[in-house]
Amino acid sequence: MNFLEKKICDEGVVLSSTVLKVDSFLNHQIDPEFMQQIGREIANRFQSEGITKIVTIESSGIAPAVFAGLELKVPVLFARKKKSLTLTEDLLTSTVYSFTKQEKNGISVSKKFVQSGDNVLIIDDFLAHGEAALGLADLVTKADAHIAGFGIVIEKSFQVGRRKLEEEGYRVESIARVKEMSTNGISFIQSEVM
Ligand code: G4P
Ligand code: NA
Ligand code: NA
Repeated sequence: MNFLEKKICDEGVVLSSTVLKVDSFLNHQIDPEFMQQIGREIANRFQSEGITKIVTIESSGIAPAVFAGLELKVPVLFARKKKSLTLTEDLLTSTVYSFTKQEKNGISVSKKFVQSGDNVLIIDDFLAHGEAALGLADLVTKADAHIAGFGIVIEKSFQVGRRKLEEEGYRVESIARVKEMSTNGISFIQSEVM
């Protein structure tokens, strides 16, 4: 098991066969040293790609994205889910469908911060159905920037997100890939990272 798989086994709570609660280090409380290790691992995998910007989505994508940005020495842009008081002009927008909430939500970034010539690494905490990831890819594409790939903290490999992203030709790097889970335990698709 790698360091994240071990953390998931130690602290994660399987709420159902499809929902994993990891609020002790990722979705509510953040363990900074651990998150730095996550960011470093994502950065390592894209070290030679000439990344100029990281794009993520509020709120739980921000922590791993900032630590990856610290490592790669590039700025981190997070898409907003709600309209901002100050962020009003020159927005790129996209729509993300949430399976859990069964509703569509707008996401946006300012044109000012992602531009043609940027080589973007997209980071998120979870990869499930891939809707948020594809929404972020849509924003980056609308900005005429290039997508180098996706860095994901926890991928639920039994859901369709990875397949959708790979079908679009994107590289997907996930630090933990959950193959299956139940209240009896969690199994992972093997990774080389220790
Ligand atoms: P879905 O793909 O499973 O339908 O999820 P949906 O797009 O509706 O996303 C709802 C939120 O739930 C997202 O965070 C997503 O990252 C997260 N999520 C999806 N599957 C899991 C899971 O198994 N465990 C946990 N802990 N989260 C999951 P969000 O609403 O954008 O919240 P946040 O980024 O502010 O934390
Ligand atoms: Na989340
Ligand atoms: Na997220």
